[in-house]
Amino acid sequence: MENSTEMRRAFLIVLDVCGAGEAPDAAAFGDVGSHTLASAAESGVLSLPTLSSLGMGRIEGLSFLGAAEKPLGAWGRMRELSNGKDTTTGHWELAGLVSESPPPTYPNGFPPEIIEAFEKETGRGVLVNRTYSGTEVIAKYGEEQIRTGKLIVYTSADSVFQIAAHTDVVPLEELYEDCRIARRLLVGRHAVGRVIARPFTGSAPDFVRTADRRDFSLEPPKDTLLDAVKNAGMETVAVGKISDIFAGKGITRSVGVHGNPACMEAASAIAEERFSGFCFMNLVDTDTNCGHRRDKRLFAETLNAFDAWLSGFLPRLREGDLLMITADHGCDPGFRGTDHTRELVPLLVYGRGISARNLGLRSGFSDAGATVAAWLKVPYSGAGTSFLPLCTDPSCGDDALCTAAREAMQKAYSPYSMCSVGAALLCADGKVYTGFNIENASFSPTVCAERTAFIRALCDGEREFTAIAICGTNNRLRREGDLFTPCGVCRQFMREFCGGSFRILVTTPRGDCREEYTLAELFPRGFGPEQVN
Ligand code: THU
Repeated sequence: MENSTEMRRAFLIVLDVCGAGEAPDAAAFGDVGSHTLASAAESGVLSLPTLSSLGMGRIEGLSFLGAAEKPLGAWGRMRELSNGKDTTTGHWELAGLVSESPPPTYPNGFPPEIIEAFEKETGRGVLVNRTYSGTEVIAKYGEEQIRTGKLIVYTSADSVFQIAAHTDVVPLEELYEDCRIARRLLVGRHAVGRVIARPFTGSAPDFVRTADRRDFSLEPPKDTLLDAVKNAGMETVAVGKISDIFAGKGITRSVGVHGNPACMEAASAIAEERFSGFCFMNLVDTDTNCGHRRDKRLFAETLNAFDAWLSGFLPRLREGDLLMITADHGCDPGFRGTDHTRELVPLLVYGRGISARNLGLRSGFSDAGATVAAWLKVPYSGAGTSFLPLCTDPSCGDDALCTAAREAMQKAYSPYSMCSVGAALLCADGKVYTGFNIENASFSPTVCAERTAFIRALCDGEREFTAIAICGTNNRLRREGDLFTPCGVCRQFMREFCGGSFRILVTTPRGDCREEYTLAELFPRGFGPEQVN
């Protein structure tokens, strides 16, 4: 890495649809059992040595990729908070914008108020107005379009308003202007993801669509990470379809190349440039070509090619560079249907000063955006919690956490049992709260070390937790080697605030023995908030 102190850059690479297993709310999307990367691995040809070296195989549920002993980066998973599983929703959330409702779809066509306003403003009538395949709709209605001059409006299972017209009847510029009219009309509860111009030429029955398709995306309704970086006077470079996804908002430079090879080549060139800011890249090939087509083998081969490119990209990174690799949702090539799947996404973080740490399960893709903002030191008001302290701050490491638990143990108030227990709780934002057991003469009001730590953190407003270290000893028995695993009440307490991947480290006072569990291991099939709500 070259020393260039004045430059600070963050690269966020989105491997389109590379889900890391069903999300906790997969049932609501009909996607229980989906696991995109596991299905890609079933092809038998998946080989990701570079990603594995960064820590990919250390991610919970991805050990089949080969768990590196000493990963070069930090690893974790993220769940999506937005109510949707499409490209736009996923990318917006990565950039700090959570969508409460999915973009609207129109299985029965667009409502009369939209169509009438569109006809009035364009001065042309509308044909079809229902879901249709793009090639079939021109084959069937192309002639009528030419004869009447009306515009073919159709949609699909996606949130799209598509306009098809013959280029001899509706000149390209007029068609684009009609799209802008539709884009202006489709706002509020009719804010479709994209308006798409679908020009065609030729004559019946052999109409063909031209290459002049153009997408008019919805602008993000609020500022995102891109605006935050741009407003701070830094560069925001969008590679691939990123600029389209954000309708150009907050982007200082767009490299709108198509397909993974061209995008990867562009990213390699950008890494050689001198600038401070953010490079946001989407690698789309795993989506259309592999996920939707349910092609496990091509999926694996596409990822293999990315991995090979990545091995050459890493050495291009310099002193002030941060690299993050993740996904926007799943599209399991082994799953029924052809749709996206509601999955967790993998998370890898690499750069100078980034330690090999487990970042756990992050509640929201926006943690990625918050982390980029923290790395670039720009003011940020988007959603999410930065995990930068978790992978850079020494006090967030497992050893430091165990030491903090040991020190807390020294302060225990336990005159009755003579058992001293200390706990150190690591929050998702990198803060550490300690606690110890506090006994009572009437015994039952006794509070364990773990709950003391949790209550202190909760009172401080913390709600997301990554790990806890526990250290205890029985001063009467003086058995040094005993490990104090959390009691049943504490496990139930943790179940309220932590997911199954919450890590529990138990250690001895001398620190000569340490065991690690997940909450799911220590408390399988526990009773949780889901049973009550
Ligand atoms: N204790 C803890 O603080 N944490 C545990 O997980 C197990 C038990 C305390 C409670 C009580 O003060 C003493 O250990 C003996 O039960």
